Amino acid sequence: MSNKLADELKSFETVWEGGYFEGDPLNPLAKSSYKQLGYISVLYATYLMCIKPYVNDQTISLEIGPGRGAWTKALLPSKEVYALDALSEEHNRFYEYLGYPENVKYFHVQDFRCEMLPDNYFTYMFSFGTFCHVSFEGITEYAIHIFPKLKSSSHCFWMVADYEKYNQSVANFDNLSYLATTMPLKPRYFLMRWLFKYRMKQNDRYL
Ligand SMILES: C[S@@+](CC[C@H](N)C(=O)[O-])C[C@H]1O[C@@H](n2cnc3c(N)ncnc32)[C@H](O)[C@@H]1O
Repeated sequence: MSNKLADELKSFETVWEGGYFEGDPLNPLAKSSYKQLGYISVLYATYLMCIKPYVNDQTISLEIGPGRGAWTKALLPSKEVYALDALSEEHNRFYEYLGYPENVKYFHVQDFRCEMLPDNYFTYMFSFGTFCHVSFEGITEYAIHIFPKLKSSSHCFWMVADYEKYNQSVANFDNLSYLATTMPLKPRYFLMRWLFKYRMKQNDRYL
């Protein structure tokens, strides 16, 4: 080993007594030396976990309820994307947002039968923020009709509403919000917290 590398190893001998601890990776709001930069959007985390590892130029993707196409954009590396929505393409301005990609087919659905989809065809499917607007009966109909459209070993990610979890989150907002970490419930942070909440409410108004 060169002297330079030996010195490099030796340089750690006097630091981090007790073992360096960056933060708890199992705590969703863990503090770290990245400070405010240590947090990512739940949408981006979903993309990293549920889309990026599975979607490539061999993937045949299916999406239910794309809306304007925010998630469809993340599916564009696919060979083909089929998108089904209860609203028309024009209403959602879907192709306008996506820039008219040639590998995307949009269908304005009138029922849950998915008859336009080829059997045993899709290798990946994704749905976010849609089934929470669909009754359990409707979700069941989709499940029954979509299953034969998916190839064996395909990957499928559906976001389905769990009202108990949602209600728990709202009831615990102050503990679960990243505000709790960045601006603790201490008097010197009260004004900052109030201003932040005020700004959040203003933003909500324009959503
Ligand atoms: C809240 S938006 C979510 C849009 C998009 N997934 C997103 O997260 O940005 C819900 C979408 O689901 C569509 N939708 C509702 N019921 C549906 C159904 N039964 N089949 C297909 N799409 C449906 C709506 O038209 C709308 O575009």
